[in-house]
Amino acid sequence: MRITVKQQVLLAPATVLILLILLLAFMQYTYWDLSRKRQETKNLGTTFVALAEADMAARRLHLLLRTMQHTGMAPPEDMALVSDLYERLLDAIGRLKPFGSLKGSGQISQLLTLAESLNPTDSPEIEKTAESFARFRAELSALSNMTQIHRNKLRMNHEQDINQLVERAAVVSMSVLILAILLGLFISVYFSRRILNRVQLLSHNAVRIADGKLELPPAPDRIRDELDTLAVSINRMTKRLIQVVGTEKLLEGAEEERRRIAMDLHDQSLSDLSAILRGLRNLSAELSDHKAQAKTESLKLDLERAIVNLRDIMNNLHPQTLDILGLGAAIEAHLEQHCDSEGLPEYHLYIDPSINALNLSRIKQLTLYRIVIEAIQNVIKHAAASRYEVNLEVRKTTLILSVEDNGSGMGEEKESNNGRGLHNIRERARAINATVNWKTSRFSSGTRFELTLPCEA
Ligand SMILES: Nc1ncnc2c1ncn2[C@@H]1O[C@H](COP(=O)(O)OP(=O)(O)OP(=O)(O)O)[C@@H](O)[C@H]1O
Ligand SMILES: [Mg+2]
Repeated sequence: MRITVKQQVLLAPATVLILLILLLAFMQYTYWDLSRKRQETKNLGTTFVALAEADMAARRLHLLLRTMQHTGMAPPEDMALVSDLYERLLDAIGRLKPFGSLKGSGQISQLLTLAESLNPTDSPEIEKTAESFARFRAELSALSNMTQIHRNKLRMNHEQDINQLVERAAVVSMSVLILAILLGLFISVYFSRRILNRVQLLSHNAVRIADGKLELPPAPDRIRDELDTLAVSINRMTKRLIQVVGTEKLLEGAEEERRRIAMDLHDQSLSDLSAILRGLRNLSAELSDHKAQAKTESLKLDLERAIVNLRDIMNNLHPQTLDILGLGAAIEAHLEQHCDSEGLPEYHLYIDPSINALNLSRIKQLTLYRIVIEAIQNVIKHAAASRYEVNLEVRKTTLILSVEDNGSGMGEEKESNNGRGLHNIRERARAINATVNWKTSRFSSGTRFELTLPCEA
């Protein structure tokens, strides 16, 4: 089982907290133990005093009763003293508190019952009562002895107990505190190193990707925590980047191939055709036959048209103006050559002069050129517009290319037909990291195609 990053971060404080709670519980127990011992000592003291008082009252009562027994008479003042002493006796016995082995033995309540049965004012037979008192005093003195022994024992042990208790509390709390600190430190160091190692690995992978080394970094099979999510995201980002770079390379390759074909056509086919044209011109000058001359002239015109067409094909394959004058001029040349005829919608072109400051790479310029040509073609083919605008603007470090018409607007069927144009636009834009969208035009009707390309300053 793997612990998540959150759990790893919380483990150290949680452990320290649990140990401190345990320590608190132990201190509470120690305090309770101490209070219990104190209460025991207090009870013993109260009982001891009450027993002494009871013994004194019983002794005096016993004496008085014996005197009355000898004299055979009970004067009223003596009887008042007897009942007062008896009350004191009962009160003292009532104050006895059970301790140690006396708890639950019922000895104290037996003593109380015995004392209640001794009420000398109730009994007319003083002799009998005096005997009972003798028995009661014997019980009282046994109890008193027992209390004295217990008290002495407790007095001896009490100090030792308290010292032990304090010592134990100090040792336990010091040990728990040291353990909590060490354990907290160990856990936090151990887990922070683990987290740091994983973060370092992720940042190392990210730096490698930023440096252009497009190797797929490892990703976990299962996401268990935030760092796993990050690793999977970096892995997916790299995959997409590899794809984009692959497409860009493919495009670059294709453009290079087109350029080579255009050069071959120029260097081979065009020079061959030009040589034939020169030959035809010479031939026409040498011919005296008018009919043959006319035929040669017509062939010459056909050949000139073929040469113009071939130049067009070459330019399409690789627009030379783009290499020489840049993107704006290439678009302008295309519009002038192909979109200026009668019957085609009127166009307006705006090229931001600061576009040159962006220093767009050759592949980016070519891609933008191909995209804008397709967008213009679509306006001419599908929009049934009377006017459209082609804008190339720079906003801070972003290039915005737009083709906006006042035509019929794009219907729902745009994705369902067999055309490749929109698909190619998207693919090309993706390869240079640009975004494209089609929305309603700012004219009263029509479509606005917009491409946004972020450029480094
Ligand atoms: N400016 C526009 N105004 C109106 N509809 C448009 C516009 N641009 C594109 N569309 C619609 O989008 C559809 C798809 O265009 P897309 O360029 O993909 O195909 P296509 O132009 O028909 O064929 P291809 O480009 O392959 O020659 C078109 O058929 C058209 O219905
Ligand atoms: Mg199209």
